[in-house]
Amino acid sequence: IKAAIFASGTGSNFEAIMETEQLVCDIALLVCDKANAGVIVKAEKYGLPTFVFDAKQFPDKAAYEKAIIDRLEESEISWVFLAGYMRIAGATLLDHYEGRIVNIHPSLLPSFPGIDAIGQAFRAGVKTTGVTVHFIDEGIDTGPIIAQEKVAILQDDTEETLKKRIQNVEHQLYPKVINQLLQTK
Ligand code: GRF
Repeated sequence: IKAAIFASGTGSNFEAIMETEQLVCDIALLVCDKANAGVIVKAEKYGLPTFVFDAKQFPDKAAYEKAIIDRLEESEISWVFLAGYMRIAGATLLDHYEGRIVNIHPSLLPSFPGIDAIGQAFRAGVKTTGVTVHFIDEGIDTGPIIAQEKVAILQDDTEETLKKRIQNVEHQLYPKVINQLLQTK
């Protein structure tokens, strides 16, 4: 089974997936919408092909998603894992990979969707937040939930210490859920 990771940022989740020894799929491509993203350097380290695109070079979302799909097909990709991909998928991509696009989000959805979920939870003063892995739909961090793991917000936490613990959970949970998902397919 071949899969692609879509990421826009530093790529710590990307790296965690790449470092997983018994991943049941082959990560065959990185898709990235930011030419200067840290994740691209990480992909190079693994010798992984990357498809870097600039959304501004296309007339609309359907056009760049079509270009992405062409590249995914070229690599025979059947699953897509979003890891800090900062774009909302449109109908073109969703229809093509229906039920095979998964995202990870650093909160217990449906609480704190959107950007800065860790900061949102921290500022809200909740005692428990966490991590969600879910199928995507056309909304922002909506779509059927696959797995969640709680993370307690401790008395002496700062946003930084909380972020570290949440990311550690993400890095364990995402590869595990990917394996569970693909093993039952
Ligand atoms: C992660 O917290 C992920 O849950 C969210 O974006 C962040 C990406 O971080 N969707 P990284 O680039 O994997 O370090």
